[in-house]
Amino acid sequence: MNINLKNIGIEKGQHYESIITSINEKNEKNAAPIGIVCLKKDEIQCRIFKGTQTLENILLEKKFIVNITLNPLYFTLATIGNLPEEYYEKDSLNIKNVDAYFKCEVIGDIKIAIKDNDPVRKTEAGIFKSKVTEIIINNPCVKAPNRGFYNVIEALVNFTRVNIVDEQQKTFYLNRLKELSRVVNKVGSNEEKKAIKIITEEYDKKLK
Ligand SMILES: Cc1cc2nc3c(=O)[nH]c(=O)nc-3n(C[C@H](O)[C@H](O)[C@H](O)COP(=O)(O)O)c2cc1C
Repeated sequence: MNINLKNIGIEKGQHYESIITSINEKNEKNAAPIGIVCLKKDEIQCRIFKGTQTLENILLEKKFIVNITLNPLYFTLATIGNLPEEYYEKDSLNIKNVDAYFKCEVIGDIKIAIKDNDPVRKTEAGIFKSKVTEIIINNPCVKAPNRGFYNVIEALVNFTRVNIVDEQQKTFYLNRLKELSRVVNKVGSNEEKKAIKIITEEYDKKLK
């Protein structure tokens, strides 16, 4: 089988948000939003914090499913608790009605480490690579969400308002821009990084 993540809009070197589904030793299903980085056309990397059920399950099973969806409800339910059983395909670990999903198997060791340049400090995380063994496409227009794009849009909306708000809101937008820019520079594409640089420069000109 010719596995190529590009077929579902996932590009090498880019970071995307997904919902990973996995099982524990009792075959109980778990879903959680997790970022993935595409390393090769059939290889991804994850960094998952210790203490999450997802890391526990992956340490145990060495396999999991990456669900690609733009459904905000799936992301929300999977973050605040667990996704109810009816959201899963019958007798399967994938989520129903997602645009695509792919099966992964961990390759090599799961390294437990702390990353220094991260706002979430002093928390150990498991870092590992996984091989994609199968891709299932339900929607040919599938697009994996990426925080870079949404943060650029957010920065632009604030930019169009910065001259028509009070000083307190202006300060809020400026601080917000720093955070939006940090995220874009961490997980965005080259175009998104260029865009946030332009927005920052224009902010400087506008507020001179
Ligand atoms: C969009 C999004 C992306 C996330 N990415 C990660 C990630 O890459 N690694 C991680 O450890 N947690 C990540 N989280 C946080 C986990 O989803 C969260 O801790 C979750 O409650 C873990 O659930 P679990 O205990 O069922 O595994 C992310 C959350 C969101 C909303």
